[in-house]
Amino acid sequence: MTVRKAVLTVAGLGTRFLPATKAIAKEMIPVIDKPVIQYVVEEAVAAGIREFVLVTHSAKRSIEDHFDTNYELESALAARGKQALLDIVQNIVPKDVTFSAVRQGRPLGLGHAVLCAREVIGDAPFAVLLPDVLVDQPDASQRNDMARMIRRFDETGHAQVMVENVPRPQVNQYGVVALDGDAPTAGNSTRMTAIVEKPAPEEAPSTLAVVGRYVFNSDIFERLANTAPGVGNEIQLTDAIADLLHHAPVDAYRMAGVTYDCGSKAGYLAATMAYAARHPQLAPVFSALVEQYAANRFVES
Ligand code: G1P
Repeated sequence: MTVRKAVLTVAGLGTRFLPATKAIAKEMIPVIDKPVIQYVVEEAVAAGIREFVLVTHSAKRSIEDHFDTNYELESALAARGKQALLDIVQNIVPKDVTFSAVRQGRPLGLGHAVLCAREVIGDAPFAVLLPDVLVDQPDASQRNDMARMIRRFDETGHAQVMVENVPRPQVNQYGVVALDGDAPTAGNSTRMTAIVEKPAPEEAPSTLAVVGRYVFNSDIFERLANTAPGVGNEIQLTDAIADLLHHAPVDAYRMAGVTYDCGSKAGYLAATMAYAARHPQLAPVFSALVEQYAANRFVES
């Protein structure tokens, strides 16, 4: 059974991006002309996902609305003959993609958020995507990392956890894995032997950090249900994966693409620049602006 379902954990408050996120969901902040969450959904759709389960919060209605029909807007655009805009609004996702939502009433951690989706996911294998992180595939001719990770899952039945190499001083911001042998080359998986949440740099088993993309069998739910609070007094998905490792194989998939952490201001800025540089309409404006700023800086220094 291949992977058609995905859990998107969108209940977080976005405190790293205040004041922007005081009244709007951090996932709805736009990069150029699309909210961050839309890029993440497009990534998953390109990998074959058709059923999304949002684990959400009462203040985050706009995310569900973004993927729903907006009848008033569509009638107004149709009445004014704005066909191009109507097409954009009506084709945010393919017609066979569905969304459902469950609430995470209390902020008990990422592991708890995923467990909230248990009834909706049932026995099916599923992906988890953390929507703060954009996974960009600059080489658009390649299958995306999520698609490759799902293919590895289909071939082996092993849970898959996407990782990338980070500088050692930064490992304490991530889940970090230990592997059976050398790190895989980009686009490949290797058996994991251990995983630890936010280790101190001197204690980390490697510099391969979990980037927020996972594929699981439904057996992860039993592990999550038995996971006690860990780092930050939260129920950690990483701890449930560590437990799963005692019962079933888990692979680390090394990504080929590039990540942008849009939950942070610096990552968001980097994403904006990367996407602007190849936006079909805005790329020329963007490069002119960059040249203008570079020239000014040159004159000042
Ligand atoms: C979460 C996970 C962590 C992972 C990270 C990726 O941490 O717990 O294992 O490396 O996402 O962004 P958070 O960033 O929510 O603290």
